[in-house]
Amino acid sequence: MVREQYTTITEGTHIERPENQAVYKIGIYGWRKRCLYLFVLLLLVILLVNLALTIWILRVMWFSPVGMGHLHVMADGLRLEGESEFLFPLYVKEIRSRADSSLLLQSTQNVTMNARNTEGEVTGRLKVGPQMVEVQSQQFQIHSKDGKPLFTVDEEKVMIGTDKLRVTGPEGALFEHSVETPLVRPDPLQDLRLESPTRSLSMDAPKGVHIQAPAGKIEALTQMDIVLQSSDGTLMLDADTVFLPELALGSQGPAGSSQGLYEVCACPNGKLYMSVAGVGTTCHEHSHLCL
Ligand SMILES: *[C@@H]1O[C@H](CO)[C@@H](O)[C@H](O)[C@H]1NC(C)=O
Repeated sequence: MVREQYTTITEGTHIERPENQAVYKIGIYGWRKRCLYLFVLLLLVILLVNLALTIWILRVMWFSPVGMGHLHVMADGLRLEGESEFLFPLYVKEIRSRADSSLLLQSTQNVTMNARNTEGEVTGRLKVGPQMVEVQSQQFQIHSKDGKPLFTVDEEKVMIGTDKLRVTGPEGALFEHSVETPLVRPDPLQDLRLESPTRSLSMDAPKGVHIQAPAGKIEALTQMDIVLQSSDGTLMLDADTVFLPELALGSQGPAGSSQGLYEVCACPNGKLYMSVAGVGTTCHEHSHLCL
């Protein structure tokens, strides 16, 4: 504490006794001094509390020289370890997984990805829901590694570009309308059947129908007529043997003269019948078969 003494000496007088000297003391004394001490003490306490609180906050918030808790500030950005929760939109330019792990987007509800144009309208959407995966887009495409389109869907058509389309369900594939293909072929070890169980089956080919069975036979069984009709060509039965086993038979030939031989007779309308062979022709004897 500063204490200054000034001694005033009146000119022309003797030196006065020290008791009579006027001493002026300048400083803070008494209750003011105590107040000042109290104030300083208070400041000290506040300072200490402040320091303690700061240290406590530093401890609680896990401040460290590199960041705060799981949040590390690094030269190339931030690094957050542990779970983070953002309750409102998070705007980022890119989301990537770490080099050594996969990326998982997970929700108990739908997961939706929207593409928007500059007006904010949704132009494409991929929605993964608990019941289904929904894609809303003008075109949906799956490409192979080398860029070949494997599966394309747009409003016009569905295109499957794989080498083979295999339908494994027991009911097979169902087409409401026509199927266009240059070849229908079964598995190498299976038969092929063309079937129309309750209706008719027709084969139309203006330039010709070729039926070939190089190692088997061809059978045509019907309940009604079989018509082989050629408007400009011939009907050829080109075989070593021709059987007509059920041909109508005129039986009243002269007994014993036929020696088991018959002749084939033709009616005016083209119907064929057999007649027992005789010395001359016996066709006319059985011409009633033509009626
Ligand atoms: C999830 O998506 C489906 C299909 O679009 C929708 O019907 C359903 O309401 C969605 N659920 C929620 C919770 O948004």
